[in-house]
Amino acid sequence: MEYPPLEQLRESVMGDVITMDDLTNEEIIKLLDNARKMLPVAKGDIHLPLLQGKVLANMFFENSTRTRMSFETAMKRLGGEVLNFTSAGSSVSKGETLFDTMQMIDGYADVAVIRHPRQGAAQYSADAVSIPILNAGDGAGNHPTQTLLDLFTIREAHGEFKDLNVVLVGDLRYGRTAHSLSNALARFGVNLTLVSPESLKMPDEIVSDLKSLGGIVNETDQLYEQIKDSDVIYMTRIQKERFPDEDEYSKVSEIYTLTESDLIGSKENMIIMHPLPRVNEIHPSVDSTKHAMYFEQAFNGIPTRMALLCKSLGIDISKEVL
Ligand code: CP
Repeated sequence: MEYPPLEQLRESVMGDVITMDDLTNEEIIKLLDNARKMLPVAKGDIHLPLLQGKVLANMFFENSTRTRMSFETAMKRLGGEVLNFTSAGSSVSKGETLFDTMQMIDGYADVAVIRHPRQGAAQYSADAVSIPILNAGDGAGNHPTQTLLDLFTIREAHGEFKDLNVVLVGDLRYGRTAHSLSNALARFGVNLTLVSPESLKMPDEIVSDLKSLGGIVNETDQLYEQIKDSDVIYMTRIQKERFPDEDEYSKVSEIYTLTESDLIGSKENMIIMHPLPRVNEIHPSVDSTKHAMYFEQAFNGIPTRMALLCKSLGIDISKEVL
């Protein structure tokens, strides 16, 4: 297959993506359109080495399965190379600072993805280096690249965002996926219902931001009465690792669990999402229902991250590359 010369595909390089505020609504829609174009490449049906010669640094100071591997698959399927850094086994154990570690990566790679347990670490890294930084989760802060794949999944299922009833469930206090996703959904005119126990409510400042973005936001601790009117139910894990006290975690660890029988009476096209990993939130009996979307959602990390990597590296795939 013939590809257009890369010179014809150059576009202005996107900067860092630390929170969803780093992307306009127009940029988000363009990334989602581009991700759709990337689906055959993501599946390996078409070979498209647009990122040949480029290097991605995967900087994981906290565990990951999906985010790290889908970025790696995205980069490799586009012909690029990947450096995988995990803090275990690195010179972090000798006392090397985040600043110094990122200085090395600035020279070794063209773009870096970073996950770190400390909120603000992605912005700190972005300030320390010149290459684009993509935040793959900073403590209980944000996870914007997860939001892109979540938005892609919702749009592919429902066609548009406006007036959808989306229910975010679980740990909305510490859950960074919920923080980033709620921001984007409010901007796209979704009706948001936030379901959590009192101790894990969405932080007041985020709820206030959602309202100022024009979001219609309801808060409750009741899940099951939301199901019949929902278009999307987005379950989240209780973030055990962020609790200062194990007893407090135990009180809420199994508070919401969806089973197949809970879905009786739900809308035909309602989808159940989860950023994964799940613990107790979705019973395996749900997996074989038409509503289960979480594994497809995880796959969608590949085409959306392909679109994001191309944009970060200055390759415009909205042009006729396929
Ligand atoms: N959704 C998500 O961030 O999964 P990982 O923690 O496995 O990367």
